[in-house]
Amino acid sequence: MYPILVAPSVLACDFGRLHDEVKRAQTAGADWLHMDIMDGHFVDNISFGPAFVDAAAQVATVPLDTHLMVSRPDHYFPRFVRASRNITIHVEADCDVSGTLAAIRSAGATCGLSLRPGTPFESLVPHLHEIDLLLIMTVEPGFGGQPFLAGMLDKIRAADEARRTHGLKYRIQVDGGVTVETGAQCVQAGADTLVAGTSVFRAPDMAAAIQSLRSLPRR
Ligand code: DX5
Ligand code: ZN
Repeated sequence: MYPILVAPSVLACDFGRLHDEVKRAQTAGADWLHMDIMDGHFVDNISFGPAFVDAAAQVATVPLDTHLMVSRPDHYFPRFVRASRNITIHVEADCDVSGTLAAIRSAGATCGLSLRPGTPFESLVPHLHEIDLLLIMTVEPGFGGQPFLAGMLDKIRAADEARRTHGLKYRIQVDGGVTVETGAQCVQAGADTLVAGTSVFRAPDMAAAIQSLRSLPRR
């Protein structure tokens, strides 16, 4: 069983003070920093691009975990791979998913695969042996600050079950509306990697928020 890792989502930080915000999250105990890339096509929002991730990397001492919510991750991932420890793509993307995962690995990062709330878990099954991380979206991707979709807990259980049944080693990450309350349900269901934007960057005490997520009880 993996230790729980907390990955604050930089999407929720004050972009005008990026370096200070990255340092603040690290000082508060962030394990990874989650970078949400949105292309205005795969999702209905545009966030930031490679230059912004490179700017974060200038002061980052923890791994950058890049989540590509873009239609063509095969085309764009090379621009993010130097700064990123992990790159996650979506199974719904318009690309050869297996080939792109393999290319991310060859370029030196670990690879993750995600799915939208409306996409069934079964769509990931052919790729489970190809990934280091399985990201279950617990909101519709595109915006921070949305309420957690409790219906996704069954997908977390399915991911955990498949990991055990097939003897696989991917981390199970959740992203969207994660607070100490909803994070507790995710961890109970089998998640070990918690992305949290609003509940961490807007917390009155960021270190306490990260610590409470990291110490949620396992099953
Ligand atoms: C949603 C993003 C999330 C989001 C999480 O499209 O992938 O990472 O920033 O933010 P909160 O924790 O505020 O829901
Ligand atoms: Zn994300």
